[in-house]
Amino acid sequence: MSNAQSTADVAVVGLGRVGLPLALSFADRGLRTIGVDNDPTRLGAVREKTMPFQETGAQEVLERVHASGRLELSDRVAEAANARHIVLTLGTPSFSHIEIDMRDIRSALDDLLGVLAPGHALTLRSTVAPGTTEFVAGYLAKHRGFTIGEEVFVAHAPERIAAGRFLEEIDTLPCIIGGVGPRSGEVVGELFGVFGAPIVQTTPVQAELAKIWANILRYTNFALPNLLMMDCERYEANVFEVIDLINRDYPRGGIAKPGFTAGTCLRKDFAFSEERSNAPGMLLAVSRVNESVPLFLVEGIKRRVGALNDRRVAVLGLAFKAGTDDERDSLAHKLIRLLERELADVVAHDPHVPTPTASFTEAIKDADVVVVATDHAEFREPEALAAIARQAKQDCLVVDPWNCWGAGQVFAYASELAALSTSA
Ligand SMILES: NC(=O)c1ccc[n+]([C@@H]2O[C@H](COP(=O)([O-])OP(=O)(O)OC[C@H]3O[C@@H](n4cnc5c(N)ncnc54)[C@H](O)[C@@H]3O)[C@@H](O)[C@H]2O)c1
Repeated sequence: MSNAQSTADVAVVGLGRVGLPLALSFADRGLRTIGVDNDPTRLGAVREKTMPFQETGAQEVLERVHASGRLELSDRVAEAANARHIVLTLGTPSFSHIEIDMRDIRSALDDLLGVLAPGHALTLRSTVAPGTTEFVAGYLAKHRGFTIGEEVFVAHAPERIAAGRFLEEIDTLPCIIGGVGPRSGEVVGELFGVFGAPIVQTTPVQAELAKIWANILRYTNFALPNLLMMDCERYEANVFEVIDLINRDYPRGGIAKPGFTAGTCLRKDFAFSEERSNAPGMLLAVSRVNESVPLFLVEGIKRRVGALNDRRVAVLGLAFKAGTDDERDSLAHKLIRLLERELADVVAHDPHVPTPTASFTEAIKDADVVVVATDHAEFREPEALAAIARQAKQDCLVVDPWNCWGAGQVFAYASELAALSTSA
């Protein structure tokens, strides 16, 4: 069917947190796969059979795929055209202008323009602003004259898997495919069909909206308990008790728990919708709630312990969420910046992230304040709270918006918390 000279079945461009597990999974399913990345360190790690980041089970698959010889690596995007299917898994951040930053996608498209041939299928796996898939199709039609959906195929197949769950969910999560023109959906559906998960065909813009709005829903869902946490402080109410009152045996309850809500996806995806929103400002307000949680905590600490100048503050967790080593767009870093602006002596500990941190014991020793910024499983252990009660200052303030130890207090003194804790 194809004029594209295929020496591989699929090429994945961008071996990041989405692209690398996907490339490994294609190769593991028997597809001859080309992995492309322009970062030599990343390529070097994969060549050396070392996962460059944590992803459950991926190290084992990497070793298996290496042994199979089915994964070829390249630093040249144009080499992706050696495969019939090209999947783009490049980063799509947002500019500070509330606008998608498409520079990586544009650059890859320009590298591919001259080498694409009839028969090629280009899939956008990255999260993109509504209309981007049609833009990509239009770009190829404009510059190469292809009839999209008949000669060359373009589709959006958004990545919806949460970090850490890739291998668990790739076989089961319905795969949304929005193809341009008559046959793009069908052609790209054949590729993703190797995983055996249900394929759901739709239009490109509906696929784009479904992905972005799933993230907006999550981001908003966590903004509400965060706003409630701030309101409770104003009214001297306990947020965990109010949440229990809302949810307990109530069929229309279901409010989530407060915490640090951020990470590279949730924070930027609202911007893609805000770009052309019918309710300008609504999603920005949601963002502002989540973004103000670190300041709310710092103000709450100051109200209880006074000025933070020369006070020792332990920050537990730098990752943007529990169980990951991903620090991108983490509010823990914002918290640290705010604490440092109060001239506090900040000591951070995180058992997962690549950034070097103090040990748990070093961080909590003689601390005036301990803030749980990420609810890693290690911090939820009763022993972690017991160690804080023993080793931090006697009147140490513990700040736990996650309710890690079941004590139901955002701000409490260590001794008080240990007595209240259900897990101790
Ligand atoms: N991380 C997640 O959990 C997640 C989940 C769902 C969707 N997404 C979306 O998937 C996309 C990718 O996210 P990610 O977290 O994997 O990003 P990432 O930054 O981890 O990966 C992007 C990779 O592309 C490489 N790259 C950049 N420009 C390149 C170029 N011109 N040529 C070749 N390689 C290039 C980078 O070196 C990097 O390895 C984004 O649109 C993101 O919103 C991410």
